[in-house]
Amino acid sequence: MILSNLAMACLSYERTRASRLHLVLVVLLYCISSEISSSFAELQRFEHAPKDDGSIRFLVVGDWGRRGFYNQSKVAWQMGRIGEKLDIDFVISTGDNFYGDGLKGVNDLAFLDSFKNIYTAKSLQKQWYSVLGNHDYRGNTEAQLSPALRKIDSRWLCLRSFIVNAAEIAEFFFVDTTPFATKYITDKKHQYDWSGVSPHGAYITNLLKDLNVALRKSSAKWKIVIGHHTIRSAGHHGETQELVRHLLPILKAHNVDMYINGHDHCLQHISSLNSPIQYFTSGAGSKAWRGDIKEYNSEAMKFFHDGQGFMSVNLTRSDALIVFYDVLGRILHTWKLNKQLHSAF
Ligand SMILES: *[C@@H]1O[C@H](CO)[C@@H](O)[C@H](O)[C@H]1NC(C)=O
Ligand SMILES: *[C@@H]1O[C@H](CO)[C@@H](O)[C@H](O)[C@H]1NC(C)=O
Repeated sequence: MILSNLAMACLSYERTRASRLHLVLVVLLYCISSEISSSFAELQRFEHAPKDDGSIRFLVVGDWGRRGFYNQSKVAWQMGRIGEKLDIDFVISTGDNFYGDGLKGVNDLAFLDSFKNIYTAKSLQKQWYSVLGNHDYRGNTEAQLSPALRKIDSRWLCLRSFIVNAAEIAEFFFVDTTPFATKYITDKKHQYDWSGVSPHGAYITNLLKDLNVALRKSSAKWKIVIGHHTIRSAGHHGETQELVRHLLPILKAHNVDMYINGHDHCLQHISSLNSPIQYFTSGAGSKAWRGDIKEYNSEAMKFFHDGQGFMSVNLTRSDALIVFYDVLGRILHTWKLNKQLHSAF
């Protein structure tokens, strides 16, 4: 449409020199604006209204789908109990939703055996917002992202990267981190479904641009970024260098409050020493107890649990309260922040 208009303009403007210059300018502007719109696609947004009292409460679990084994069912039961107590609004999954190789298709029974028939508590019948982990990429990723799963269980929402807005209180930025890590691209032992994300370089560049624009525009009190892979971690996998290099500078530039991830099968809280960012790992939804914790800066390391469990978050405009629970629902670690009292870096 625009192109044919341009062609028409071209014909009628052909006559004079002055209008030829005008034409050049129009074409230039068109090229610049189309360049901007094609490379800054908006991330898909969802609205999740806070409660009437102005708070948002949710649970975070990761690395879980093992048909109830490795204490997945025990963790699920405790999530139901705590979810009820907190009257949660939704659940966040930090990925590795289905072991060992994601879902084979939309009719894969793992969806029922590892999700629908496991998280059965009444309090967990809320929206689930999920990202993909590296194990999910070993299956049919399109199946896990498919709206067909929402017909089987309406709680399920998994997309590569997206945003959830909770009015002016919080904005959640879900980021597809698996394509960042080059080790999967060169992994000869496993097959990955890279359809829709290759070439990786362009995919990541666009994703980072979109995230940068969305974070810059955000006026939410709490900016929370969620991805499967670690940025800071003393766990088995340690830090993901590609995220430290490419994602972290964007989080720092926009005063992100929290980065929440899974991947390491533990519960963990690390405070950044040179920015407000709190790093929370909740990747303990089933198999845990790796027993290989790395040395870490003791000032930054606030908490580490080498075992199963999950995390709860309670946010208001001014306050955040994070609690970690073990497989028996016992409170292991609590972290509070009041934004008014907290002096900015
Ligand atoms: C499951 O949790 C129990 C504690 O209730 C613990 O004794 C057991 O080792 C855990 N099992 C696994 C496979 O982690
Ligand atoms: C959530 O946090 C607010 C503010 O800190 C507090 O008043 C409220 O009691 C908390 N709610 C729950 C269920 O923990």
